[in-house]
Amino acid sequence: MPGLRQERVTERRLPRWADLRPLVRPRRFELDATERRLARAATIADLRAIARHRTPRAVFDYADGAAEREIGLRRSREAFARVELVPTMLRDVSKVDTSTTIFGRPARLPLAFAPTGFTRLFHHEGERAVIRVAQEEGIPASLSTVGTTTIERFAAEEPEATKWFQLYVWHDRDKSAALVERAKAAGYHALLVTVDVPVAGLRLRDVHNGLVFPPELSARTLAGIARHPAWWLNVLTTEPLRFAMIEEDLRTVARVADRLFDPALTTADLTWLRELWSGPLVVKGVLTADDARRAVDLGADGVVVSSHGARQLDLGPTPLEALPAIVEAVGDRAEVFLDSGITTGSDVVAAVAMGARACLVARAYCYGLMAGGARGVQRAAEILRTEIVRTMALLGACSVGDLTPERVRLRP
Ligand SMILES: Cc1cc2nc3c(=O)[nH]c(=O)nc-3n(C[C@H](O)[C@H](O)[C@H](O)COP(=O)(O)O)c2cc1C
Repeated sequence: MPGLRQERVTERRLPRWADLRPLVRPRRFELDATERRLARAATIADLRAIARHRTPRAVFDYADGAAEREIGLRRSREAFARVELVPTMLRDVSKVDTSTTIFGRPARLPLAFAPTGFTRLFHHEGERAVIRVAQEEGIPASLSTVGTTTIERFAAEEPEATKWFQLYVWHDRDKSAALVERAKAAGYHALLVTVDVPVAGLRLRDVHNGLVFPPELSARTLAGIARHPAWWLNVLTTEPLRFAMIEEDLRTVARVADRLFDPALTTADLTWLRELWSGPLVVKGVLTADDARRAVDLGADGVVVSSHGARQLDLGPTPLEALPAIVEAVGDRAEVFLDSGITTGSDVVAAVAMGARACLVARAYCYGLMAGGARGVQRAAEILRTEIVRTMALLGACSVGDLTPERVRLRP
């Protein structure tokens, strides 16, 4: 180049051991392959990638998939991608306090583990892993009606943990009431009534994969054993996979929903449940202010703004977008929660700033479970926790109370 002096700027020399020595840092090799894998996972997306490798396709797809064209799931994720967080600088964030209260009980994070059915399909440690990690992290964990661990076993695993029981109301109201009584006797703290499954959503991946529960030993699955020997070994050498609260032999999600769950569920049933259950009653699966208002008018203490992870109505409202109107309608009378599509701690921070008391996650911990059982769930919780803390610090928010609506906006 004209004007640049032509003498050489770079002067080379042979590397000297004295310079190299401080760079050589042999690290202890982690012998445990699961630990090695989990340690490398820095995000929930990384855990998802491990989960995909570690489990048969039908199992991974059952968690990962959504209804029909999966448009709702994409929209949920896109809504979180449109979030813009507004920081305040020059605030002392050397200590960030993520704790909150949920129905009067302390929670160390504004986060809870959502109910999932068939959980031991992901990993034999199943719900017991989930409640253990919840206790360790100081957050609530939910057990599903279609769970694979009994109400009593889940509660006994961590007697001190905050436990929520999720109810699908069955045609047989006496059987539903019996489940509620069992949850009460076992000391559950809240009852979540899921209202967005009047019929089963169409999960096309499950249909195409021929997912049945428990998995069958067919020619196709035998081939899968070769690819996922550890998963199969666990299935075949631990307690058999079965629905813990259902006696009938119903082999698919759709059959369970269609045979057992009552599509005639109405607000009258909420009144009935309100009489049956004196603790916090939460209606899970509302997406409009009107529905939230009706639920709270009938005595609900909380609502979960949720599209069931976009696993039911594919083209319904996007929960994050529906949240502000619902907070506006019932936020002063009930606790409002949000789920569906959360993959990062900043998603949680955004929803809390928009008025949610806390967020629920399902897939995030299911990926962890598939990636490494209880240790994988622990890793998922750690990832979300550190992301929540870091995002709050970057925002200049020292406490959950600092997460106010001015801190967040949705880009058009
Ligand atoms: C594998 C799986 C099983 C689920 N099973 C249930 C269930 O039994 N009852 C229920 O109310 N919700 C169930 N859900 C929905 C979750 O509780 C939650 O609303 C939703 O998945 C949250 O979205 P996320 O998975 O993107 O975090 C399930 C979700 C998944 C992924």
